[in-house]
Amino acid sequence: FGRRLTLLDVVDSTQNELRLLAERGAEEGTLVIAEQQTSGRGRMGRSWVSPAGKGIWMSLLLRPPVPLPLTPQLTLLAAVALSRAISQQLPALEIGIKWPNDLLVDGKKISGILLESAAEDERLNYIIVGMGISANLEAEDYSEELLSKAISLKMASGQTVDRSALIAAVLEQFEQLYKLYLEQGFAPIRTLWEARSVTLGKRTELYTPQGTVVGVPLGLDDMGGLRIELPDGSARTIYSAEVGASG
Ligand code: BTN
Repeated sequence: FGRRLTLLDVVDSTQNELRLLAERGAEEGTLVIAEQQTSGRGRMGRSWVSPAGKGIWMSLLLRPPVPLPLTPQLTLLAAVALSRAISQQLPALEIGIKWPNDLLVDGKKISGILLESAAEDERLNYIIVGMGISANLEAEDYSEELLSKAISLKMASGQTVDRSALIAAVLEQFEQLYKLYLEQGFAPIRTLWEARSVTLGKRTELYTPQGTVVGVPLGLDDMGGLRIELPDGSARTIYSAEVGASG
């Protein structure tokens, strides 16, 4: 991955740039990296703070060789890949994954992942994996509201992060796990994800499109959904939600 690389200075969003390349037939593994995004976007229609030269803002193109179900599986794979790459570069940091794919240090978000796809019926034509890593941001790069829930790798570790080395590590991990996933399915990814999760085993509020659900997340199902135990002892699986307060 990353052998076809477009490095840009300022873009609205690397997702849009890569989509253009994808529509023109770009191959799997094509990567767009920007120093700065003027309209970086996050999940659930939120914006993503992407100041110049301080973070890793990039999008990776996947063209799965087999029809993949529209499930959270690849999103969860991306979270495992990023967390392993960051751990490799900064072994002292303890990185947890909040379902589905936020990476946290001490409960604060250091990275986010956004998958966008061109879906034709059940079959996915291509998938754009957007990855944002707040590498060397300083406190003043965040709004006061964001500072209570987000942190950069530099703020958390006291070290300036070598962005090129981290990008290389992410691509290597991603390629390895994607290969494993295509060969062996979701089971090994699921195990790796569960081992790094900070969401499991604690009473949690989940804001789903159908309303708030409170329960204890137990693990993932085969599709990558989150299995929840409800207060009445019954079980439910959630495929799309914002994970709120837990503990
Ligand atoms: C989230 O946690 O809400 C997902 C954030 C994803 C941000 C990345 S930065 C690179 C790519 N381009 C975007 O506009 N968004 C993603």
